[in-house]
Amino acid sequence: MAKMGVHGQWSSSWAFILAAAGSAVGIGNVWRFSYVAGENGGGAFVLAYIVCVLLLGLPIMIAEIMIGRRARQNPIGAIRLIAMEEGRSRHWSIIGWLGVATGVSILSYYSVVAGWVLHYVFLSVSGWGAQSQDGVGELFGDLLGSPGLLLLLHTVFMGMTVTVQALGVQEGLERSVKLLMPALFGLLLLMVGYGLQTPGFGRSVEYLFRPDFPYLLENPGVFLVAMGQAFFSLSVGMGALIAYGAYLPEKGSIVRMAGCVAALDTLVAVLAGLMIFPLVFSYGLEPAQGVGLIFKVLPIAFGQMPWGALFSVLFFLLLSFAAWTSAISILEPAVAWLIESRGWSRFRAAVTAGGTAWLLGVGALLSFNLWQQYQLLGKTFFDWLDYLTTNIMLPLGALLIALFAGWRISRRSSREELGLPDGLAYRSWRLAIRFLAPVGFLAIFLHASGILDLGG
Ligand code: TRP
Repeated sequence: MAKMGVHGQWSSSWAFILAAAGSAVGIGNVWRFSYVAGENGGGAFVLAYIVCVLLLGLPIMIAEIMIGRRARQNPIGAIRLIAMEEGRSRHWSIIGWLGVATGVSILSYYSVVAGWVLHYVFLSVSGWGAQSQDGVGELFGDLLGSPGLLLLLHTVFMGMTVTVQALGVQEGLERSVKLLMPALFGLLLLMVGYGLQTPGFGRSVEYLFRPDFPYLLENPGVFLVAMGQAFFSLSVGMGALIAYGAYLPEKGSIVRMAGCVAALDTLVAVLAGLMIFPLVFSYGLEPAQGVGLIFKVLPIAFGQMPWGALFSVLFFLLLSFAAWTSAISILEPAVAWLIESRGWSRFRAAVTAGGTAWLLGVGALLSFNLWQQYQLLGKTFFDWLDYLTTNIMLPLGALLIALFAGWRISRRSSREELGLPDGLAYRSWRLAIRFLAPVGFLAIFLHASGILDLGG
């Protein structure tokens, strides 16, 4: 067998599913999904999102895990090795480089937002009392207006992430996913139950699930945003799952594992939507209020619910944990690469990669206060980081992975690695990865940039 991974192997497919689910389920499902859905017309976005998960996200997730398990290395090395085995150019490893850069950039602002979640754990402890709309807005505004506090929170969260990476103890953390993920899930259900009793529930169901085709046609950018969010939420497009797949035992169905993770991740996002939007409509709030959405909506509900303070502490605590297991996976490609190809110690690799992300993150948090006036085309540094990484770099990475897996890895190798007969499942995957994904990307890119007009 090829080289062992840098932190050994997952003990079973089940352990891998936990790790991958820990990576996928994070603040992307709750914070990002709801704010982006609110900014992009609700139902139009959700429809585009689900199409993107099924047709693009899932096939690419399968491709990433397949590449990782076959090569058993960090993403850069993995792609280079497979390219050489298949007699292809070693320059395909550029995918790995892009992935490492994307990961560090995503982690930088991911950690800033996770810091907000940590702050809300502390705020929850003393209870919310009766919160007015202005009150919660002010509370969130105060947080964004305090560079020192933001820096502290960002540093604490990045410290937590780097510590786990430096000690190489992910597996213990992934095991607690087994306990804490169902807890988060249960709490989401409870909040959806709460929303069910509010007057805005019916309207929010309609808002989220009535596909608004005219809106989609008039706003082609929605597809781009939905595609980016699908990749972000599934953790695909930058090699995180190549890195995790490298620690996968030989046996076990990759397709089934990927299916489980994608289904779970999508379910959590939909539940989060069903939690937030009834509250938004019941309190007469604006869905399109941007990155602060969950932070300005949830406290009002927690302030009114029985046991609200307790649920609030639990909710933000579990969400911080979900963010933690995701952040670790975002850093993994860079750390694994530094260890395997540079021969660095795990400690040095984790501190260097995490430190770089931390530094970028400082820029991201300053863009809410001291650097607020520095904007380009109406977007701050934070906005640009979020936009470029998710809507451009992840889709680009995913496109290259699709092209590599579909056109450069032979049919024989991919069938062998996926362990599939030449039947419907394999053919659909190959069709998706060879044709659907590249054509889909191109259409979405060109359409969103206005070069190609698909109507509307
Ligand atoms: N999927 C995580 C979330 O929804 C974030 C994440 C983890 C991620 N690993 C990733 C995003 C890799 C992009 C690429 O919160």
